[in-house]
This record gives sequence, structure tokens and C-alpha cells, in this order.
Amino acid sequence: MNILVTGGAGFIGSNFVHYVYGQRPDWNITVIDALTYDNNKKNLDGLDKVEFIEGNICDEKLVDKLVQKNDIVVHFAAESHNDNSLSNPRPFLDTNIVGTYTILETVRKHNKRLHHISTDEVYGDLDLDDPKKFTPETPYNPSSPYSSTKAGSDLLVRAWVRSFGVKATISNCSNNYGPYQHVEKFIPRQITEILEGRKPKLYGTGEQVRDWIHAEDHSSGVLAILENGLVGETYLIGADGEKNNKEVVELILKNMGKDQNDYEHVNDRPGHDMRYAIDASKLMNELGWKPKYTNFEEGLKQTIEWYTNNETWWKPQKAETEAKYKKANQ
Ligand code: NAD
Ligand code: DAU
Repeated sequence: MNILVTGGAGFIGSNFVHYVYGQRPDWNITVIDALTYDNNKKNLDGLDKVEFIEGNICDEKLVDKLVQKNDIVVHFAAESHNDNSLSNPRPFLDTNIVGTYTILETVRKHNKRLHHISTDEVYGDLDLDDPKKFTPETPYNPSSPYSSTKAGSDLLVRAWVRSFGVKATISNCSNNYGPYQHVEKFIPRQITEILEGRKPKLYGTGEQVRDWIHAEDHSSGVLAILENGLVGETYLIGADGEKNNKEVVELILKNMGKDQNDYEHVNDRPGHDMRYAIDASKLMNELGWKPKYTNFEEGLKQTIEWYTNNETWWKPQKAETEAKYKKANQ
């Protein structure tokens, strides 16, 4: 099996490449990644047999050459951070919409299998007391430039399946955590703030709920869909990990030996989604998938340990990230 992974140097894409490298040693893996975050190339260190191509998924010629040589495309590449999409939406349109269009036209031309990675944010948000969770039938209702471009990319995939018979599946996953996540994201930001001697920063009230899943469980879900999913179907990936942001910050402080109240409230995110929650029963019942990391605090402890031991990985990104947040009083 020859597999092309777009965005394979990113947080989740590189986790997936490591996972497949270990689980399917006979597969040939090629990664295309634009390295929008300088040091992401390090995320693939040690994977000698992986072919790495630095390039943009909007580059039709390059994408054509790579897709032609592979059997499957797993499409992780995206602009992925909500706060960045609020300060500068344009790259989100280019990569998430035009990039996905480029991938779709190429897999259509060469009749290749595609798996498109998406997010639960396409469904908008839930009230805190809503008994329902997101299912594959939940109507799309995205809130931010990031989530609306992801929603647009999903709709393109659905249209290419229906109109052109492209052999694609889609997965929508909840919030991932684990090693190699950029320090601009919530959990790594708080851990590294504490490691640098500052306080964690909670947006607004901190009552917003996210449904946390370890990145390795996301990877095993994607592999299950690649191998056993039905073309044209959408699968939701989640591990029943709902926690509000205040609870997560308190858990991080506790596990780093600090007072649980030692955080500060900063400016809220404009349009901040209140709650995401995934019903993953289709993936579990139809494809037999199960998450491995069912104890969030355990997974969080391992993540804290990783950031503590890998300062050389995150340090170069930290000052620039905090300078950006400071400008927005966040
Ligand atoms: P990330 O930002 O760490 O990784 C994205 C990767 O895509 C980066 O390595 C970047 O260099 C690459 N990339 C960006 N633009 C590109 C372009 N034009 N051409 C080629 N490569 C490009 O993000 P992540 O958190 O790993 O997210 C990966 C995917 O998973 C995204 O599609 C995201 O929407 C989705 N997702 C993320 C989460 C989460 O919690 N992080 C949850 C559900 C779904
Ligand atoms: O739900 C899946 C999505 O999860 C993915 O599609 C996105 O790519 C990924 O970035 C993530 O989006 P969120 O916006 O939920 O994640 P983020 O880490 O930015 O923030 C998580 C929550 O924490 C959110 O409610 C905002 C809050 N927050 C964030 C930061 C950076 C804070 O309270 N303080 C912070 O410093």
C-alpha cells in the first residue's frame, strides 16, 4: 500500500504517520507538508522510510505527481487554529478550501481513494445542558473562519463523491491532545506557561466545554476508516472526554504541583463556541473502533511529562506565540 499523507508533519498528521509506520510496516508513506510551523519537520525524526516532500497542497503539478504514485490520500493539511483565523482568515481559505479542491480534482483524475480529516466544529456549538451530542446527521452550522472553511471543505468532498463518484470518506473528530501540539493551542500553552514561570490563561469564564481525545486514538480511528469504512460515509471520532476549560486548567495546575486557583482570566475569543460533544457510536458499532486513552488525567499527565522533557521542541515557538496573544490581551 502506498499512502500519501497531506499535513503529515503537523500535530495529528505526524502522530498518524508514526502510528501507521508502527502498525503497518509494509506500507510506503509519503508526506507532503508546507511546514507552516518551522520546526514541524522534527516531528518525523526517526522515520527513515518515510518520504518527506516540502510543498503546498495548492500546487497542482506537485500534488498530481504525488497522488499518481499513491493508492490512498489521507488529507490532514489545514490551517487549524481558530484564533489565527480571527486575526487573518485568508490562509484558511487558500489551504482549507482551494487546497482541498486541488486534492479532490487530483484524486478524481487518477481515481484514487481519499480520506478527508475534518472537525466537530463544523456542527457549531451545543448548549451546556443539551442532552444531544453531534452525530453524522447534525446540520452544519460553523461559527469561525476556521470552522467555516473546514465545513466548506467537507461539502466539497461530499459534492465530489456525489457528482463525480470520488471514492472518499470523511471523519469529524473532537479536540485532540498529546505530544507535538503547537504551543498556541490550549493545553500546550498552559503547560508551557507554567514551565516558564507564568500563570495559565483562561478565556472568559472558562465554562466552555471541549470533548478531549488523545491524538493516538484519532489515528487509530482514521486507520479503521481507511481499512473498513464505506466510501461516501462520514464517521465521527470522539472518546467521551467532555471537560470545561476551567477543569482542564485546574487539572494541569494540580499535576504540575501548583495551586489549582493559580490562573488568570484573559479576554474571551470572539464568537467563542460553548460546547462540543461527539457521539462516536457509528465508528464503534460499525467498524469496531475503541479508544485506548479513556482516562483523561492519565493522558494529560503523560502530555505534561512530554512538554517538560522536550523543551528544545517547543521553546523556539513560545516567545513569538505569546507576543501574538499579548497584543489581543489574551
Ligand atoms: P497542525 O496545524 O498541527 O497541522 C497542520 C499541518 O498542515 C502543518 O504541518 C502545516 O504545515 C500543514 N499545512 C498547512 N497548510 C498547508 C498547505 N497549504 N500545504 C501543505 N501543508 C500545509 O494541525 P492539527 O491539529 O494537526 O490538525 C490536522 C488536521 O486535523 C486539520 O485538518 C484539522 O482541521 C483537523 N482536526 C484537528 C483537531 C485538533 O484538535 N487539533 C481536531 C479535529 C480535526
Ligand atoms: O474541536 C476540534 C478543534 O479543536 C479542531 O478542529 C481545531 O483544529 C483545534 O484547534 C481545536 O479548536 P479549539 O478552538 O477548541 O482549540 P483551542 O486549543 O484553541 O482552545 C480550546 C479551548 O480553550 C477553547 O474553548 C478556547 C480555550 N482557550 C484557548 C487558549 C489558546 C483558553 O481558555 N485559553 C487559551 O490560552
